[in-house]
Amino acid sequence: MSDKVWGGRFSEPTDAFVEAFTESVSFDQRLYAADIEGSIAHAKMLCATGVLNDEEVASIEAGLSTIKSEIEAEMFAWDQALEDVHMNIESALTDKIGEAGKKLHTARSRNDQVATAMRLYLRSEIDDIQGLISNLGAHLSKLALDHADDIMPGFTHLQPAQCVTLGHHLLAWAAMLERDSDRFNDLRKRVNQMPLGSAALAGTSVSIDRNLTAKLLGFEGICDNSLDAVSDRDFVIEFTSNAALLMMHLSRWCEELILWSSEQFGFVELADRFTTGSSIMPQKKNPDVPELIRGKTGRVYGHLISLLTIMKAQPLAYNRDNQEDKVPLFDTIDTLKACLCAMQGICGHLQFNTEAMRTDASQGLLEATDLAEYLVQKGMPFRDAHRIVGAIVREANSRAIRLAEFSLELLRAHSELIEADVLTRLTPEGSVQGRDHVGGTAPPQVARAAEQAMKHWNSKRQGD
Ligand code: ARG
Repeated sequence: MSDKVWGGRFSEPTDAFVEAFTESVSFDQRLYAADIEGSIAHAKMLCATGVLNDEEVASIEAGLSTIKSEIEAEMFAWDQALEDVHMNIESALTDKIGEAGKKLHTARSRNDQVATAMRLYLRSEIDDIQGLISNLGAHLSKLALDHADDIMPGFTHLQPAQCVTLGHHLLAWAAMLERDSDRFNDLRKRVNQMPLGSAALAGTSVSIDRNLTAKLLGFEGICDNSLDAVSDRDFVIEFTSNAALLMMHLSRWCEELILWSSEQFGFVELADRFTTGSSIMPQKKNPDVPELIRGKTGRVYGHLISLLTIMKAQPLAYNRDNQEDKVPLFDTIDTLKACLCAMQGICGHLQFNTEAMRTDASQGLLEATDLAEYLVQKGMPFRDAHRIVGAIVREANSRAIRLAEFSLELLRAHSELIEADVLTRLTPEGSVQGRDHVGGTAPPQVARAAEQAMKHWNSKRQGD
């Protein structure tokens, strides 16, 4: 005989290896609050439809609240033999309140129960993550405003390309974050649909009111098809995909901070408290925190591939494979939250070396495009202007001078269209001021965009 709750048809106990192999309570415990919330709503619904009476629901609710407090006080004895968080809690409830506890699982299966708990849990994690994203976005926008007119070289192919402002660069990071936040917002609607009522796969003949349970749990709607509802893990994959994208963004910023904090760039100093030293080289100060964020990005990508592969080719409806969604999802959540906090810490203690940035911006021939555009404004077709400025660049290289060091005469030897007003355009300041349009890097545009971004993030923060 088996002593499991499902043991009626078994003639021998579960093999100890199988018990350890199939358990999930060691990692799905963290669903306890969502599981309890789902159970209380389910019991209330069963009362409304006349399946449970008032006393039974009251005792289920009281028993579950006590269990919740015991779990939070670390006084709850989790038992691997009871497989998962759901059966641990249900069995503790029955131990506490007797008969009524045995009725809780009416019109429900662990299949719709776990899918519901996962959605409730993830919904609240998405809200936390949105809060962290908004804090970071607000901080970046403030930094951007502070550096709206600090000039730095902008790069393509990691080669100095054109002058930009540091504020503009920081707002590019914030723009990535805004898309991330939109994606999580959009996903939240799909997470916030209720599977309960689907039971094992085919619904239930017991009288239920799915809309009532959904309302009690704050779900925006109910999952339409019971077979799909118990087996669908799209929302887990989609969350991890959004997380992977966000981690990719963080890894890009980290890569820049790592480069910028190198002696070769010298654009930024990371705070001592956010760096580490070397056990052998006394002079070293290493950017381990951004490096780890960059490294952990790979880990989240791995979780995304795991989840896609877990779901690949699964026949309808629920299969135990689905239990494997938890470790990758939970680790993605933990990693993402930790990295967002780390990024907030890094950005809170950045010391930009704006002098070094300005100096670097004036070293190359970064105003070459501005000069070509100057000629265009004087009426020359762009292709001709490009060729002429190409010749000026060649001359600058052979004379080893910067564009700003050309005399007007030397420039006019290349084109008569060049006049004295060119000289203001050939400085980093003139260069960025020239690109004065929406989405451009001119300081007034950057200041305006930074203010708008600050408003956006702060209003999101208030909404949280
Ligand atoms: N621990 C299981 C999971 O995470 C709960 C569902 C179990 N359902 C079942 N029919 N064995 O997926």
